[in-house]
Amino acid sequence: MSAGGVAALLADARVCVVGGSGGVGKTTASAALAAGMAARGLKVAVVTIDPAQRLATALGLDALDNEPQRIDPARLEAAGLPLGDGELWAMTLDPKRTFDELIARLSPDAETRERILANRVYRELSDAIAGSQEFTAVAKLHELAQEDRWDLLVLDTPPSRNALDFLDAPDRLRAFFEGRALQTLLRGGGAGLRLVGRGTGIVLGLLRRVTGAELLSDLSDFFRLLGGLLGGFRERAAQVEALLRAPGTTFLLVTSPEREPIDEALFFQRRLRAAGMTLGGAVVNRVHADELEDGDGALGQLPALLERDADLSPPLARSVAAAFADEHALARRDAANVARLRERLGAAVPLICVPLLDDDVHDVAGLVRLHAHLLADG
Ligand SMILES: Nc1ncnc2c1ncn2[C@@H]1O[C@H](COP(=O)(O)OP(=O)(O)OP(=O)(O)O)[C@@H](O)[C@H]1O
Ligand SMILES: [Mg+2]
Repeated sequence: MSAGGVAALLADARVCVVGGSGGVGKTTASAALAAGMAARGLKVAVVTIDPAQRLATALGLDALDNEPQRIDPARLEAAGLPLGDGELWAMTLDPKRTFDELIARLSPDAETRERILANRVYRELSDAIAGSQEFTAVAKLHELAQEDRWDLLVLDTPPSRNALDFLDAPDRLRAFFEGRALQTLLRGGGAGLRLVGRGTGIVLGLLRRVTGAELLSDLSDFFRLLGGLLGGFRERAAQVEALLRAPGTTFLLVTSPEREPIDEALFFQRRLRAAGMTLGGAVVNRVHADELEDGDGALGQLPALLERDADLSPPLARSVAAAFADEHALARRDAANVARLRERLGAAVPLICVPLLDDDVHDVAGLVRLHAHLLADG
């Protein structure tokens, strides 16, 4: 990887979307990356999507607010990462609030806003739509980008089965506003069910909670009120899509070194390219380091060496040697998978390997350690 690790690929970026399969380290990498770029003097805001909230707690975030909060620089400095002129801001996304805020912003007046937010059809649907976090995440990103307060925005993406879900988010949003999803649902069509994700549950829940004449009046109200927001909404969705394709927006793909996530990463790359979006780079996270420099040759002699140099008993020397052999096998498997990814991504896409750290990354010290690998020079 060229000098500067991820820093080089973010040199011209205003927005970095961190994507990848479930559990590969997206949230951790997003936060570490944001901290590292802040230490390079930028004003950075990171939007994480972490129901566990562990990172937020570690950073001292008050999770109640749906706006970025400035992280006390002393916390990072104490962990060895002085920010200088840089600023680190962070928030954990509250999907439901983000969605309500979007409605409020698009409403022409306070009365319309209140009526929509109180409408039972809206409440049922927005819970479900907000439950698809891909959608609210991108909406929040767009809102923050418009504020123009930060040099760099880092967006973590939700723990979805499919890393690609959020690429369809603007479309889903539009479908919601156009009432397409609901209309299709009410007609019982299959496409509608997919559009809103947990579709069947929504209709059943809706019918259970909002019944009879009330349902009809709320439904017609819903369509009338939302109809008034449609123009503003379409414009918004187009802007969101444009932001994802903007030259200043880059995607960073995180994967683990196993075969399946790497296959998914390659699929993601193709989808991004087809959608006209930029893959800035890939991070292979939790790579096993090879402790044995000369590999297989050293393994045979290891028990004897451990007995002689480390003064281990023969059985202990054998079991320590066996542990080394296991690590070595994993390191070789990882290296082969990384090489395959390297070849398939092509030379133009920077690839950064981050080692498997001894501990889980759950505090500021862990983030600082991780950032050093992500942004490592040379
Ligand atoms: N390089 C690393 N070394 C050791 N542990 C790591 C490393 N990177 C991440 N982790 C740990 O792996 C776990 C998963 O990381 P993280 O929550 O960031 O993944 P994610 O991709 O955001 O997951 P999800 O898809 O559920 O949102 C966490 O416990 C984190 O601390
Ligand atoms: Mg996560």
